Amino acid sequence: MAEVYVLANQKGGVGKTTSTYNLGVALQDIQQRVLLVDLDPQASLTYYAGFDPEELEDTIYQCLLRNKPVAEVIISSDYGVDLVPANMDLSLAEMQLLNAPARERRITKIINEVRDDYDFILIDCQPSLGLLTINALAAADQVIIPVSCEFLSIRGTIALLKMIAKIKGQLNSDLRVAGILPTMFDVRTNHAREIIRILETNFKEIHLYPFQVNRSIRFAESSAEQKPIFEHAVQVPGALAYRELARELVKARNAAYAGALIGR
Ligand SMILES: Nc1ncnc2c1ncn2[C@@H]1O[C@H](COP(=O)(O)OP(=O)(O)OP(=O)(O)O)[C@@H](O)[C@H]1O
Ligand SMILES: [Mg+2]
Repeated sequence: MAEVYVLANQKGGVGKTTSTYNLGVALQDIQQRVLLVDLDPQASLTYYAGFDPEELEDTIYQCLLRNKPVAEVIISSDYGVDLVPANMDLSLAEMQLLNAPARERRITKIINEVRDDYDFILIDCQPSLGLLTINALAAADQVIIPVSCEFLSIRGTIALLKMIAKIKGQLNSDLRVAGILPTMFDVRTNHAREIIRILETNFKEIHLYPFQVNRSIRFAESSAEQKPIFEHAVQVPGALAYRELARELVKARNAAYAGALIGR
């Protein structure tokens, strides 16, 4: 059964989509079955995975509002990961769901339909704490928080942690923060190192991944070319963090299974 991760941060442009896609491909490269879920009307993940969002007729919108089975919407990317795509239609969903019954649990229901078919399900959120993000947090086992190494990101992280605490209290008591993933780390600046130090000291109770995704223009190029960062001719230093993160997630999953077996 899949472990469900949501990549969330209401601050825009911190690397949520880049992390979702490249982590997904890194997981599939170590023989994991991966489903990515695009929960952002900007549909950057859908584009990155090789599709033209506006050409797609069936997207997550049809699952959310027309009860279409998610298996009929899933498409396979060239790099071995499956995708529940999105497009602009999703921007209407938030409003249309406002008066729907169990409106916070729509994504939970959708994920449950295919949970047995994958090892990992990764959900990419939009930069807001609205109903779609709440749905993702209600459906997830764990949250990964990508934080870009700049000061304003710290404030956003505090707001997100408050929201996660609320969701734990009201919708999903098992939700855990897997860790903070530092992104856009500029090795040349003291500022980036200072942010890592602030993250270490101010969020002691939260796991800070011991590797950073370095800043590199290659990430923007890779999304424009609709190819994972690992496809670049030259090894991109920031890409290694996604390989390490993938290994860490698999290790955590195996440890949880071993623990469950012993506890039986
Ligand atoms: N490590 C990195 N170094 C430099 N640029 C990066 C890095 N990671 C992502 N980018 C670029 O920064 C921009 C924002 O990244 P991305 O779209 O992944 O962020 P996001 O958090 O998903 O944004 P949004 O909040 O709008 O959904 C993109 O152009 C992306 O290519
Ligand atoms: Mg994004």
